[in-house]
Amino acid sequence: MGDMYTKYAVKYADAIENNAYNGLYERPSTLALVGDVDNKAVLDLGCGPGIYAQHFVDQGAKVTAIDLSEQMVQMTKQKLGDAVTCYAQDLADGLPKEADASYDLVVCPLMVHYLEDLVPLFKEVHRVLKQGGWFIFSTHHPLVDYEENDVNNYFAVERITEDWNTIGEPVEVSFFRRSLSNLFDSLSESAFTLDKFSEGKPDPMMKEVSPETFDTLSRRPNFIFVRAKAN
Ligand SMILES: C[S@@+](CC[C@H](N)C(=O)[O-])C[C@H]1O[C@@H](n2cnc3c(N)ncnc32)[C@H](O)[C@@H]1O
Repeated sequence: MGDMYTKYAVKYADAIENNAYNGLYERPSTLALVGDVDNKAVLDLGCGPGIYAQHFVDQGAKVTAIDLSEQMVQMTKQKLGDAVTCYAQDLADGLPKEADASYDLVVCPLMVHYLEDLVPLFKEVHRVLKQGGWFIFSTHHPLVDYEENDVNNYFAVERITEDWNTIGEPVEVSFFRRSLSNLFDSLSESAFTLDKFSEGKPDPMMKEVSPETFDTLSRRPNFIFVRAKAN
């Protein structure tokens, strides 16, 4: 995955708080699928600097937040103290510290593309969700990753390495590109049914602060947003 979430964690946290792609497109589009979390047990996977965790705590949820990066875990703990349970865990190894059927909602914004195989984590998410609970995640739009890379086979899962300018200087990031079929097959193989799907909407506020990005994202989506129900 590279240094973006470790060495540059503080700069990344600053950059995504209010920027166009995260603050005014990804976050509002994910939260549009979440709804009311008051008194709900929420698990935030790949929590980053705790912006989502803060939102859920403010809305009255009981929150557990997990990230691979110690730097991100520290930032989340500094921000939220005892209001959140937060610890480091590689989600490729599942959720060994979490009990069965203990969450109403699992949220995982912009993390699943760091995993080559989605099924082991999706099965773990299903295990820790109460029956009928929601699993909500966002990830790269498969067509964007397809279009922006020299792809020979759309259906293959492939590691892609790109330089991202998120923090104002190029930082190399590696992630996995996958097809829509791979994504939705991984959900059904893990006993989830699709409840809602969206390609997101830029917040109208973006028109004022980043008119060019607003225009681009209004015509060409960058992420996909999925709400799945645990059967
Ligand atoms: C793009 S950031 C998103 C942060 C946060 N979800 C948000 O949207 O504000 C991706 C996060 O996933 C974490 N991550 C990447 N691979 C992971 C893994 N295998 N296990 C747990 N966390 C991981 C990174 O450390 C980083 O904090």
